Amino acid sequence: MHLSSVVPTIVAGAALVSAQCVIPMTPLPGTISAPFRVQVQNASRPEVHNKYMNLFVAGAGDRHLFIGPVGNPTYDLTLIDGVINWVAGGIRAVIGGEYSDIDHTTKMFMTERGDPRAIFEPTNACDPDDPTQTQVELRFVTWQSHPAGGWICVRPAFDGGYEFRYYPPDNNLVDPNRECIKVTLVVRPSGDGPLTSTTSGTTTASSDTSATSAAPSSTATTTPALFTDMTAMGFRFIGCAPEERRVDPFDFYGRTLPDAVFSGDNMTNELCLSSCAAAGYIYAGTEWSRECWCANAYAPTRQPGTTVASVGNCNFRCSGDVSQFCGGDAWLSLYQKCLDGVPCVNNVFT
Ligand SMILES: *[C@@H]1O[C@H](CO)[C@@H](O)[C@H](O)[C@H]1NC(C)=O
Ligand SMILES: *[C@@H]1O[C@H](CO)[C@@H](O)[C@H](O)[C@H]1NC(C)=O
Repeated sequence: MHLSSVVPTIVAGAALVSAQCVIPMTPLPGTISAPFRVQVQNASRPEVHNKYMNLFVAGAGDRHLFIGPVGNPTYDLTLIDGVINWVAGGIRAVIGGEYSDIDHTTKMFMTERGDPRAIFEPTNACDPDDPTQTQVELRFVTWQSHPAGGWICVRPAFDGGYEFRYYPPDNNLVDPNRECIKVTLVVRPSGDGPLTSTTSGTTTASSDTSATSAAPSSTATTTPALFTDMTAMGFRFIGCAPEERRVDPFDFYGRTLPDAVFSGDNMTNELCLSSCAAAGYIYAGTEWSRECWCANAYAPTRQPGTTVASVGNCNFRCSGDVSQFCGGDAWLSLYQKCLDGVPCVNNVFT
């Protein structure tokens, strides 16, 4: 704990300096067994300040982390040796995947797999909104096996939600279209919240700060399959492809499938694939629930991942059929026309 770095920031924001909280000197253990919720703070950014971390169903038991009206409130998180765990789901917070080279951030999410974990140090501090109160913050220490430092930030995602991301040390890049806002993570008691998180489907629920308003409001009753099998139509699913992963400076943020696009409230994977095929294209992809993009080639930098988690980025339901996923926010559900005489099989995700 670095008291000297804590106190000045508190004094600057406090109305009554004399009422400042007394920070306990005893170091906190790296394990917190009593169930808690995670609140985020950035007092200068009211759009995220004091919101709670929600868990969003992302396939294969994974949960993606959001604030805002995306995902389900979660009251039974614990900290085990500095790692945020959701024991009821057998998953823990890791960093990996969805690297964005516009702002050099990487997604933080929860999985049972062995991705490098996010390591936090519980630290006593004063509550910026009420400097007479102490709070326990989860100070970000390191992305396991990576250089120490950096911080956790939240970046606008979809449906008004913000996703949790890792911002590396010695980085100064900001995505002009969606700034990743630096946040402090705070341990909050679970209060009256249910002790096993509500996890049905990819429902959305309010991240209301009241512990009693936890019931998720479900708009769709079934969880779509990870992706829609379209091999009967002669297209194979390749994966969930990024729009933005740019390593070639001459790539100019171009679209992954740039040759044709249309959109509509009746969008489904069938409609997109049949339309691209009718126009003579061999690649087709749905995005943002209602868009369809076509092309005959795509850049190697836009290659989709091979993990189940990578497919989880394509988690927007199709506007024309909520039982299917049609891409995501800057992610394409990408299909390729099968060649004549070759078995038409989807890629395998592990
Ligand atoms: C709030 O977010 C901005 C943008 O990321 C950052 O510059 C600032 O340091 C943050 N403030 C706090 C108190 O974390
Ligand atoms: C989908 O909607 C568009 C208008 O948005 C319409 O032109 C088209 O015929 C519709 N296609 C199907 C298959 O319903």
